[in-house]
Amino acid sequence: MNANQSLKIAVLGGDGTGPEVAAEGLKVLKAVAKLDGIKYDTTNFDFGGDRYLRTGEVLPEGAVDELRKFDAIYLGAIGHPDVKPGILEKGLLLELRFQLDQYINLRPVKLFPGVETPLRDKGPDDIDFVVVRENTEDMYCGTGGFLKKNTPDEVAIQTAVYTRKGCERCIRWAFDFTRKRNNPKKMLTLVAKTNVLTYGHDLWWRTFQEVAKEYPDIKPDYNHVDAACMWMVKNPEYFDVIVTTNMFGDIITDLAGILQGGMGVAAGGNINPDPGGTSMFEPMGGSAPKYTGTGKINPIAAINAMAMLLEQTGHAKSAARINKAIQVVTGTKMKSQAAGKMGYNTSEVGDLVCEAL
Ligand code: IPM
Ligand code: MN
Repeated sequence: MNANQSLKIAVLGGDGTGPEVAAEGLKVLKAVAKLDGIKYDTTNFDFGGDRYLRTGEVLPEGAVDELRKFDAIYLGAIGHPDVKPGILEKGLLLELRFQLDQYINLRPVKLFPGVETPLRDKGPDDIDFVVVRENTEDMYCGTGGFLKKNTPDEVAIQTAVYTRKGCERCIRWAFDFTRKRNNPKKMLTLVAKTNVLTYGHDLWWRTFQEVAKEYPDIKPDYNHVDAACMWMVKNPEYFDVIVTTNMFGDIITDLAGILQGGMGVAAGGNINPDPGGTSMFEPMGGSAPKYTGTGKINPIAAINAMAMLLEQTGHAKSAARINKAIQVVTGTKMKSQAAGKMGYNTSEVGDLVCEAL
């Protein structure tokens, strides 16, 4: 993006507490943009559960092409108690990931100062790694079907699809990322299950070995997914960057999210790194309907997601500024990262981050 151009952001506040946390991220964007001279404009979209219940469609015709025109999408949360599970997830979140080819799901796992982790004797120096999750293939592709549905002979098939192109572009991006991150460990761990998934994860394994040759400065490493779960709890300091498949990535990033202080803190990016690609950034917390409108929800994850958005759109300095400010607020102001126990309400936490910029 040209520095004189305005950063175009599509805002999807979504359901439940989504709009409330997104508002705090946007508040911080406004403050940092003023300090760093970033020009931007935002456009709101009302996609989510309420709109679906009203209109019967999750994404209206042409919506994806409309969103494609933006530099980035900022998402609050999707999920509505009156909508059957799967409809919004598949129709909105996964639809955007696939249609916009956001093939990287980036989940930084960093324990900020002052944030509580369930791991005894582990601190911010120990919990600091990044998960790069493939975001378009695997069991998420929605291929499968039923035979003899609702009979005692029922058969259900859910296929995991892996392609050479799909895993190679993800693995290569992860090596590049590990190089840029430049942690003293300089290590990329492939997390898979090559001892059982001897086709799909064999493809991942072979591709990983080949691409690794292009990065002699990065140590290639491997963990089976079950072992990786043990290590993440026992020795999280072992990891630098993890690259993994979509389904395993979904599971281990929730485990990782809780290590870094939970859903009030953890953020993720759905990234299309190609030139002109539109990426989407979101807090991991979900719509938490019971807290809607109470001012209890923690906006730190959403503010984190905003920092990731700025990083991805070429504003690394501003992203770093937000990251630092967040650490001041978690380290010296907030009592807890749990909803309702922060010592401040949602909007006050946003104000604190703005002050700390
Ligand atoms: C996530 C979520 C989604 C996923 C769901 C809501 C479809 O759990 O972003 O990790 O499984 O990818
Ligand atoms: Mn998940």
